[in-house]
Amino acid sequence: MDYQAILNILQKEFTPKEGMGKVASYIPELSKVDPLKFGIYLFCQDGSSFEFGDSQEKFSIQSISKVFTLTIAKEMLGKDLWERVDVEPSGTAFNSLTELERENGIPRNPFINAGSIVVADALLSVLENPKEDLLMFVRKLCGDNDIHYDKAVAKSEKKHGYRNKALVNYMKSLGNISNDTEKILDFYFYQCSIAMTCEQLSKAFMLFANEGKHFQTQEKVIDRQSVKRINSIMQTCGFYDEAGEFSYRVGLPGKSGVGGGIVAVHPEQYSVAVWSPMLNQKGNSALGMKVLEELTTLTGLSIF
Ligand code: DON
Repeated sequence: MDYQAILNILQKEFTPKEGMGKVASYIPELSKVDPLKFGIYLFCQDGSSFEFGDSQEKFSIQSISKVFTLTIAKEMLGKDLWERVDVEPSGTAFNSLTELERENGIPRNPFINAGSIVVADALLSVLENPKEDLLMFVRKLCGDNDIHYDKAVAKSEKKHGYRNKALVNYMKSLGNISNDTEKILDFYFYQCSIAMTCEQLSKAFMLFANEGKHFQTQEKVIDRQSVKRINSIMQTCGFYDEAGEFSYRVGLPGKSGVGGGIVAVHPEQYSVAVWSPMLNQKGNSALGMKVLEELTTLTGLSIF
């Protein structure tokens, strides 16, 4: 497959333009980003890589971090985790409260905010130093120590995160939260504030395209069954109430964040990260989705 030729076509075909979507502003710090940023990085299982645009610039990974925390929680807690969070698509927005009432405080999946807050709570109960441990894990996956929390973003979300405060308090009232709610939100806002480049993200996500092995050292980090399960949850829940649309258009498991990033994986082939901060109405990168759709169209390859 001539990925370089395909990326050249994508670069010519897609140019970010004002009005393609809106930069997230409910976390004020995120609204400072240049809406016209655009980058892509594709890392293949054979070690080759291809990129263009702002692929080396860091951005706020936001909900993409939910895949990292789920991976750690699944390894440490095993089946117990699924007593507290389900694996069903939600069909509602990432920050929705509605299902929680009907479903006794058990979030539909670990990628909506409620679900990831439960995962954060679970991690606080088992990790010695949650913030440091999470950062170490992500750095290890990328083989790169230059990955940090963006404290200004975390602080900004803490100040304005009324929805998440409502979610954690509501779940606490229904008995699905163990730790202090302020401590959980602090950890959750920090995890979302991690800043990474497209290159770092695509390398980290090679775990899910490389049978659970580290992209560089080939060390086994998670087993094949975990890869299957996490990819399945990305496929069905990674884009909230647009998960069906992403699956239909792109045909790969993936995860988005309101910072404008999307990572998608083609098991045993490649991992690809794209960044364009202008979001569609569902909170997913508008241009990012289009580019990934064209990538799987031009390669003629998807998991289906
Ligand atoms: O909790 C929030 O609302 C944000 N920190 C993360 C949401 C997000 O990235 C949704 N993704 N598209």
